[in-house]
Amino acid sequence: MLIGVGLGPGDPELLTLKAIRILEQSDKVFVPGKLALKLVSPYTDAEILDFPMTHDKSVLEMTIDHNADVVAAEAVHKQVAFGLIGDPNFFSTFIRLKNRIHEKYPDIAIETVPGISSITAFASRIDAHIDRSFVVSDGSPIATKIVLKTRTPKKIRDRLIEEGYTDFIFAEKLFSDEEQVTEEIPDKGNYFSILYASKREMKKQ
Ligand SMILES: C[S@@+](CC[C@H](N)C(=O)[O-])C[C@H]1O[C@@H](n2cnc3c(N)ncnc32)[C@H](O)[C@@H]1O
Repeated sequence: MLIGVGLGPGDPELLTLKAIRILEQSDKVFVPGKLALKLVSPYTDAEILDFPMTHDKSVLEMTIDHNADVVAAEAVHKQVAFGLIGDPNFFSTFIRLKNRIHEKYPDIAIETVPGISSITAFASRIDAHIDRSFVVSDGSPIATKIVLKTRTPKKIRDRLIEEGYTDFIFAEKLFSDEEQVTEEIPDKGNYFSILYASKREMKKQ
């Protein structure tokens, strides 16, 4: 099994207890670079897997394919952790790696453990407070919208369809005993809910 573990934004004290436990329990830990290595080193040994920063598509393809094979060779019979800066599901190397392993080795179970993302962590460092909608961009077109406090999810979804969104997941009381995650968007939602909306044709992977 393979677990993508969020290592937080750069301070070894900003890992979660769960991240530390998984790093300590895993048979093998990979990281994509020196900063991630520094963050895991108080808890475990790890091997750096090289992901060169290049726009050359053939190099990117070869690298992801090779690294998928290296990780899968371990994950097929052991617990493998892959530590990523911030959160593994936001703008991370892990997204492509996970997709490639899933394509080539569909029997390997893959999950992720959230980390504190730079997207939220920066606010504490610069004393910013955000209490209105905001945009996170890496320069690419906006392909996702996350709506908080979705008390009327179906109405919100219908508005988002008009804006070109195609895929929706409703998530309520996450990480609790009453967690609900569904693509069947309900009429009513709890205050502790999120509607995830994406534009299918604009997704990279
Ligand atoms: C490939 S993305 C990884 C994002 C990461 N998965 C996360 O959740 O924070 C790298 C970008 O995240 C931002 N970033 C990550 N860590 C940061 C930090 N400690 N300080 C400022 N920006 C950071 C920068 O914009 C950087 O170019």
